[in-house]
Amino acid sequence: MKDLAIAANGLRKSYRDKVVLDGIDLTVPQGTVFALLGPNGAGKTTTVQILSTLIAADGGTVQIAGFDLARQPDDVRGAIGVTGQYSAVDKLLTGEENLLLMADLHHLSRKDGKRKAAELLERFDLVDAAGKTAATYSGGMQRRLDLAMTLVGDPRLIFLDEPTTGLDPRSRRSMWQIVRELVASGVTIFLTTQYLEEADELADRIALLDHGRLIAEGTAEELKRLIPGGHVSLRFTDDDTLKDALGTLGRGFVDPSDDDRLTLQVPSDGGVAALRELLTRLDAAGIEPADLSVHTPDLDDVFLTLTGQKQETNR
Ligand SMILES: Nc1ncnc2c1ncn2[C@@H]1O[C@H](COP(=O)(O)OP(=O)(O)O)[C@@H](O)[C@H]1O
Ligand SMILES: [Mg+2]
Repeated sequence: MKDLAIAANGLRKSYRDKVVLDGIDLTVPQGTVFALLGPNGAGKTTTVQILSTLIAADGGTVQIAGFDLARQPDDVRGAIGVTGQYSAVDKLLTGEENLLLMADLHHLSRKDGKRKAAELLERFDLVDAAGKTAATYSGGMQRRLDLAMTLVGDPRLIFLDEPTTGLDPRSRRSMWQIVRELVASGVTIFLTTQYLEEADELADRIALLDHGRLIAEGTAEELKRLIPGGHVSLRFTDDDTLKDALGTLGRGFVDPSDDDRLTLQVPSDGGVAALRELLTRLDAAGIEPADLSVHTPDLDDVFLTLTGQKQETNR
């Protein structure tokens, strides 16, 4: 259990008679990115609030960085950082003042606080804005400042609750880059998102949360393979070989988008076993494709298939 950043079992939470989390099991290895993906109201923020000691669960056990959440909440708090869905930034203070305030809360000396603030302002491209009040910052700048404030305490595990919701594509990309750099430095990230693309881009493992239950968990590739619609594209050098291949495999369609009509699309889950079987059969018939690519459905398809509903768009 030592190398797990998070191990949660049977997490439950209700508000009055409304069940928000209905028995959630999660494990997140250290140094990895875990994405909790789900539509509005799924229970993402509630999960983050419980795992980060902000609210108590009604049931279940949680270990964070080896500490028991219920018995050692202070140790847990010392190991984590949280950037919430609603910003901790004080808009009346400047960027630098916000960071110095965090340094104070973490009992850094004045000198160390100044050094840390300067370092973070530099790293998050906020040097020019350091002396301006946060109220004048763009959405992307406020998110960066928020995350910089989280990093003042050098957490080993960071919770990011919808870090890019409402951001423009450019700010979103820059936030993704920051997350990647954090992971490269060995930090564990637990993020929530409504964006399938975001989970796909950043996460080692993804769990789909729907109405308080995890309805699927795995790598992006594994989740994509859960649903039909994938295929393998085989390109051949000439029409005769393509026809041979079609005869040998007994299934497939000529890809209409290929002007040369030399690409065969074979329905497949795109997994290793299926690919091996396909190639073995072609090989036995002495057929070699010139090119091969695997097309797996995207995560939107996964969500639609598993929940029977499209993801609600944010507000
Ligand atoms: N303090 C609360 N009191 C009552 N209901 C709550 C409270 N916090 C959250 N909820 C309800 O729990 C459900 C999940 O909320 P939340 O965890 O914020 O979802 P998400 O972050 O995935 O959008 C929602 O139906 C929400 O209305
Ligand atoms: Mg939320």
